[in-house]
Amino acid sequence: MARLKTSFTCQNCAASYSQWNGKCENCGEWNSIVEELTGGGIGAGPKSVKAGGYGAKLVSLAGKSEDAIRIKCGIDELDRVTGGGFVKGSAILVGGDPGIGKSTLLLQGAAKLADKGHRVIYVSGEEAIAQVRLRAKRLGVEKSAVELAAETNVETILATLEQNQQADLIVIDSIQTLWTDRVDSAPGSVTQVRTSAQAMTKYAKKTGATVVLVGHVTKDGQIAGPRVVEHMVDAVLYFEGDASHTFRILRGVKNRYGATDEIGVFEMTQLGLKEVKNPSALFLDQRDEGAAGSAVFAGMEGTRPLLIEIQALVSPSPLGTPRRAVVGWDGARLAMILAVLESRCGVKIGANDIYLNVAGGLKISEPAADLAVAAALISSLTGAPLPSEAVYFGEISLSGGVRPVVHSSIRVREAAKLGFKQAHTGKGAKEALSKGAQKSLTVHQFSSLGELAGRIAASKNSRWQKHKIYPSNTISEPKEQQFLQKNLNVWLWIAPRAWILHKLRVNDF
Ligand code: TYD
Ligand code: MG
Repeated sequence: MARLKTSFTCQNCAASYSQWNGKCENCGEWNSIVEELTGGGIGAGPKSVKAGGYGAKLVSLAGKSEDAIRIKCGIDELDRVTGGGFVKGSAILVGGDPGIGKSTLLLQGAAKLADKGHRVIYVSGEEAIAQVRLRAKRLGVEKSAVELAAETNVETILATLEQNQQADLIVIDSIQTLWTDRVDSAPGSVTQVRTSAQAMTKYAKKTGATVVLVGHVTKDGQIAGPRVVEHMVDAVLYFEGDASHTFRILRGVKNRYGATDEIGVFEMTQLGLKEVKNPSALFLDQRDEGAAGSAVFAGMEGTRPLLIEIQALVSPSPLGTPRRAVVGWDGARLAMILAVLESRCGVKIGANDIYLNVAGGLKISEPAADLAVAAALISSLTGAPLPSEAVYFGEISLSGGVRPVVHSSIRVREAAKLGFKQAHTGKGAKEALSKGAQKSLTVHQFSSLGELAGRIAASKNSRWQKHKIYPSNTISEPKEQQFLQKNLNVWLWIAPRAWILHKLRVNDF
């Protein structure tokens, strides 16, 4: 009997090893390497193609091509992220944490498509038919013509699909439950997930149906995560959100048929997911206007502007090594801004505990948020609230300069739309001034962070004013302080002379 071939595969990143290791050298994950049977499955090697036999047909790139045919489901936020609807013959992966709402979103999308007359098949490997029906009832789509199946074997699913009339959309919930007879490893393992996903992708290409694969993101490495199939599908969408908040974001991270970085915003309600047409209003809804340490960042998510509140708390630290805690932003970037404030702008902030939070549980990765973060930090340090009708955006350089960022005009326009009166950004954001400039909004441009720090420090309620502490270096002291200091010099000049004169007089008489 031939010996079974095995290899050791990381369940997190799919790296393959000849022997077992405690830690995966590729992704750094511990205890994620599992022995799997190899062989079988895909690819028989090139030897089956004989000379003059059946190789692939070569065609010219300059040939005729047709535009991708799309089917729109009518949920605008979902259609936007897919690039204008599901492309026929494509495979899409929808990933996300368990319980975030992937099944809910896809059932709602499937029902909408079925209502429009498309043939939709929903294959649930996780829930029984009764459970899916219950959910459909809750979502108010129980009358929809979506066809259901509770099946996990790939060959059975493919046979079912082939027996029935061709479907437009097939939802597989989830890839981790799929298993195929062609490989021997356990369901959920990397080999199973990869082979099953490959079979479904191949089916989509062959028949022109759209296949949506649902994949759970897992951290423990026991079940293969969606990352192992990212490369073989046409589009990858991640459904994100914070368990303690009701809104959810569908983010496109890969799309062969459209732009990536697009987001769709939803709100999880009792009756399923609701589209959020104006996300900026949602994220600014419960803003503490007039509180020190809160700044509004005019951000961009893909082609879409999004106003987000950034909160900072700077408090004197009792510890030798002050605490830094960041939620929703990059900790390394915060360290950089603190260093710039300290050494380029003379703002003594380093000895404090610093907490930074992006409101609403959002995650920001844009460098354009630098200026808003710096403004929030200075505001909290000085106790001076920022103007409630101002937005901030701009990238801070290590030299302390503020750089303009892309899409200034779109950011400014969104701010004006929501009633903001001022936009603070880097010098040279001409685009913001010309195209985006609105009558109702003034654009303030700063060439250095020091300028902004000086302005906030000199504003009303600032503790710097009360204690007469001013940032040095690049910031010129406010007028009142300069006046006081001038007077002090005059007094220092007059006082000793007056005293001597007085003494002389006393001695004379
Ligand atoms: P689900 O779609 O099952 O998540 P996933 O498929 O990503 O694992 O969503 C489950 C969560 O959504 C669950 O915690 C309950 C909540 N939910 C609502 O709040 N309202 C609803 O109408 C539905 C259907 C679910
Ligand atoms: Mg689910």
